[in-house]
Amino acid sequence: MKSKEVKSQTEVRERMLRTQLLAWYDAHARDLPWRESRDPYRVWVSEIMLQQTRVAAVIAHYYEFLRRFPTVEKLAGAREASVLAAWSGLGYYRRARMLHAAAKVVVRERGGKFPATAEGLRVLPGVGRYTAAAIASIAFGEPVAVVDGNVERVLQRFSGQRLTGENFWLAAERLLDRGRPGDFNQAVMELGATVCTPRTPECLSCPVVELCATRGEMAGSAKAARQKKREIHYALDSRDGAVFLVRRARDARLMAGMWELPEVAGSVVGVGKQQIPRFARNDKINGRSRGKTEEFLFTVKHSITVTNYTVQVWRMTAPSEVCGEWVGVERLARVALTGLARKILRKAEIIAPIRRASSVI
Ligand code: ADE
Repeated sequence: MKSKEVKSQTEVRERMLRTQLLAWYDAHARDLPWRESRDPYRVWVSEIMLQQTRVAAVIAHYYEFLRRFPTVEKLAGAREASVLAAWSGLGYYRRARMLHAAAKVVVRERGGKFPATAEGLRVLPGVGRYTAAAIASIAFGEPVAVVDGNVERVLQRFSGQRLTGENFWLAAERLLDRGRPGDFNQAVMELGATVCTPRTPECLSCPVVELCATRGEMAGSAKAARQKKREIHYALDSRDGAVFLVRRARDARLMAGMWELPEVAGSVVGVGKQQIPRFARNDKINGRSRGKTEEFLFTVKHSITVTNYTVQVWRMTAPSEVCGEWVGVERLARVALTGLARKILRKAEIIAPIRRASSVI
């Protein structure tokens, strides 16, 4: 076959993919809150939250974040601790700090207006190539393609070629529907997240299976990241309307400067060797008298990056060498708690369960 014919065949196949994928997206796109609006602020917040976090985990946080910071001006004017508090539970807190810094740039240097192109958006803190293309295409209709893990997998399987690096971006750019770039980008990501999944792609329900070069042949090669397991213990000391919390170091690698419950060694709470707690029972901690004994409360499961934690929570006074503060329960909503601390305090019914709003206010 002549190369011109091959080229035109490829073009026909790609054109069909655009049409069929967009039709599928129009009929089957998940009803996600950030798809209700093309407001660049909302698109930007959702895209930053969706980096490294699953859609299901993002939804409730997205509503709550927009309830607290409905505009870029409100976000720019907030204290960092409030932003981190609203981010609590999403992890990777650097994203929240960058989001806050970028909001300040948009408000102070650009009169509250977001740059309308991918190139312009990249000057904002925390906005890389993917995020800039996602915001520019979804909010402003700029014809620029996105590449994330889902897109890479779809492109690879669709083309049947082992692509790497810049070739992913070139392939995505060529496939892009230039009339509806935001919808097309989201359609490819949606296909990767719901149908063309890493291990067992559902080729039978794929809208473009007939155009696909591999139809599942390249499945199963994606190895799940190996998760480590760890058990940790926390002391929950709450009395007189306050909880005893400690602050993580400002230069900690993860969750710097955030508040959490004091961690105690398993041996302190008598796990395994049934030891007697090694801290004094009768002294005072920051002016409050200590409780009498420790009591096991409950277990929670928590995952951070590649570690699955089994967290045992004990009602007990924190070891006296621990430097912390009593934080009034009414202040907890405004304190930058780690996601795990928030989870424990919710389970202990010290703070209210997460609200699941039905629409963004
Ligand atoms: N992943 C990140 N952003 C997305 C979006 N807008 N649609 C689908 N998946 C996504």
